[in-house]
Amino acid sequence: MNKALLLYMVGPSLWAASVCQPCHPSQTEAYLRSPMGNAIGAPKPGPQTSFTHEKSKTRFAILNRDGQARHQIERSGITATYPLSYQIGSGNHASGFLVRLGEWLFESPVARYNRLDLWDVAPGYEAMTHPDFNRRVTGDCLSCHSSGPIESLQPISCEQCHGPSRQHLQAPARHNIRNPVRLSVADRDAICEQCHLNGEARIPNPPGSPQSHSIAVYDRPRDDLRVVSHVEQLALSECARQSQGRLWCGSCHQPHGPAINIDAQCLSCHTTALPASHQDYKRCVSCHMPKRDAVDGGHTAFTDHRIQRRPSVPSTKTPLRLRLWRDVSDPALRERNLGLASILAGERDGSPALINEGYRRLAAVFSQWPRDPDVLSSLGMVLFLKDQKKDALKLLEAAVQQRPKGAELHEKLALVKRADSNLQGAIESLEQSIALDPGRESAYFFLAECQATPAARQQVLNRLLKVFPQSLLAREALQRSTRP
Ligand code: HEC
Ligand code: HEC
Ligand code: HEC
Ligand code: HEC
Ligand code: HEC
Ligand code: HEC
Ligand code: HEC
Repeated sequence: MNKALLLYMVGPSLWAASVCQPCHPSQTEAYLRSPMGNAIGAPKPGPQTSFTHEKSKTRFAILNRDGQARHQIERSGITATYPLSYQIGSGNHASGFLVRLGEWLFESPVARYNRLDLWDVAPGYEAMTHPDFNRRVTGDCLSCHSSGPIESLQPISCEQCHGPSRQHLQAPARHNIRNPVRLSVADRDAICEQCHLNGEARIPNPPGSPQSHSIAVYDRPRDDLRVVSHVEQLALSECARQSQGRLWCGSCHQPHGPAINIDAQCLSCHTTALPASHQDYKRCVSCHMPKRDAVDGGHTAFTDHRIQRRPSVPSTKTPLRLRLWRDVSDPALRERNLGLASILAGERDGSPALINEGYRRLAAVFSQWPRDPDVLSSLGMVLFLKDQKKDALKLLEAAVQQRPKGAELHEKLALVKRADSNLQGAIESLEQSIALDPGRESAYFFLAECQATPAARQQVLNRLLKVFPQSLLAREALQRSTRP
């Protein structure tokens, strides 16, 4: 067996880059210097500093003790200090931080905004009244930001773009490894889409489908730019729409460096006369790809990839509709996914129009998915919102029956049971939810709410504190419940 293959097989904690490096030194070294090659890593000890989030009257401190970076949170005299496990983000825009609690990773509410040399709450925490270290980092986050097991997360690996490499390592040749530039347009684009396309909703497909999930996007541009939306934006540009797949991410970005001269790229296609005004224009990007704030990016600016003629025109008031990014051939599956996505996006954006549209679509194909837990629970929650408790209950019970290990479904079922005045039933469902996922904080708080006496409520909160001893929210709730 050759050395590379042996190294590769030593274990998943060995990052593939070191396996490829001996034969591809220049590509590896360039990649290791690039932001994607540094998307996650050990937290770099920074200066000790602190700030107050006024909205929540919470004070955060960034500490360095014995070379270990820590974040501290303090509200109304209660404090917690967490050692940091990872830093997300190479530092080009913002850096986020992860802490490990038991078998789970959580995001720190503190972020560093590098260009502004500023520490503040992380994107999404701005409006929170009770921030805490309780936003769980899911496999979704990690599959876009890292590789490897959670004990030793590594930056994005070569294989995430080049595909499985076992055969290539056995008998290195061009034909047994994926090179993005040699693939069909759709397969090529799918590589960057794995991580640079988030869409409005990511819908898992039922078992046996050709793709693991479908992504739904709005049918026209949103006015606001988001951190992960480059794929959708570029697809809206006339440059991409009218150049038959020639324009792709790789036209302007090379993961293996060096930086591409983008203005030269523009001119490689725009060879005919530009408007007369353009005679002395050089930095095409400065006008056609301006920097804008991202609504979900905290204090960071991103580049508008729509390559518009002029800055965007305000949208009309007609409601946005969803479409699937890559259409699926089965019409019933398409309706299922659009239905699920509309409800998800509608709940998130508070749009009754989208929720109703989703409901209509799902109801129309329900007979084809009578045992699909996602369809059942989604329909159930819409009926719950419409106050049709009995029907909601039936659907959620069926959903739980189909996916008995779904901690989230048990919690939803509890919500409906409680609304249906079945408090004991709600408690049972919550206990099941917690048994399946002992780190599910929301289920503990809901369970505490369902208890009749202060002593019983305290008992539940103490159970949560056993799992997360420093939880600010649990200690605050405990304090409130002991007050006369
Ligand atoms: C033992 C040496 C060796 C190792 C280890 C190795 N490769 Fe290769 N690789 C080659 C050779 C040889 C070629 C073919 C070069 C050619 O024909 O021009 C190649 C070609 C490639 C190509 C270009 C394919 C194309 O279509 O142009 C890619 C991409 C690639 N390797 C990626 C990797 C990755 C990723 C790893 C690590 C998982 C890796 N290689 C490990 C030797 C190696
Ligand atoms: C496995 C997930 C993943 C894949 C696949 C991926 N990216 Fe990225 N990309 C990221 C993450 C995460 C970042 C942010 C890195 C950081 O922390 O700054 C990023 C950053 C970038 C950046 C900005 C930083 C820079 O290098 O200037 C560019 C450009 C980029 N990616 C292009 C691409 C292209 C082109 C492809 C497809 C060939 C691709 N990415 C595939 C996850 C991915
Ligand atoms: C679909 C893939 C994807 C998922 C899922 C995802 N990210 Fe990202 N994230 C990215 C990419 C790509 C970037 C880089 C964007 C850029 O540079 O334009 C990024 C940027 C970031 C940044 C830097 C933000 C900034 O403003 O510069 C942080 C921190 C971050 N992500 C944390 C997370 C956390 C925590 C989660 C899970 C809750 C998550 N991400 C989920 C792809 C993803
Ligand atoms: C974010 C996606 C991405 C990652 C991660 C990535 N590559 Fe690539 N790689 C590409 C793209 C796109 C090309 C083709 C365009 C180019 O040459 O830049 C490429 C081309 C190559 C080639 C062929 C170069 C040539 O000149 O024909 C090799 C070899 C290679 N990569 C090796 C690696 C190795 C080794 C790693 C890990 C250290 C790695 N790549 C990680 C996207 C990636
Ligand atoms: C792969 C070829 C290609 C590249 C690269 C390219 N474009 Fe285009 N672009 C086109 C095509 C095709 C059209 C549509 C026909 C036309 O208007 O010329 C277009 C249209 C445009 C338009 C008109 C948009 C509208 O809404 O009418 C602008 C502005 C533009 N491009 C600017 C740029 C800039 C700036 C760059 C570099 C950042 C660039 N293009 C790179 C192919 C390209
Ligand atoms: C026509 C050229 C062009 C194409 C095509 C292009 N980009 Fe970019 N991209 C840029 C420019 C210009 C910047 C800003 C670079 C800078 O500020 O240094 C940028 C920046 C980025 C960044 C850094 C964050 C930001 O928004 O500033 C990411 C991530 C990124 N691009 C991803 C992608 C992905 C993914 C694709 C394919 C869907 C893509 N780009 C296609 C020109 C392009
Ligand atoms: C100072 C800002 C600015 C710069 C720099 C700039 N443009 Fe433009 N561009 C504009 C404006 C404004 C328009 C719209 C003109 C109009 O509608 O008459 C435009 C229009 C265009 C169009 C559409 C032309 C048509 O007739 O449909 C293209 C293509 C284009 N620019 C390409 C480029 C390229 C390539 C560069 C870099 C060499 C560039 N621009 C640099 C502001 C700029």
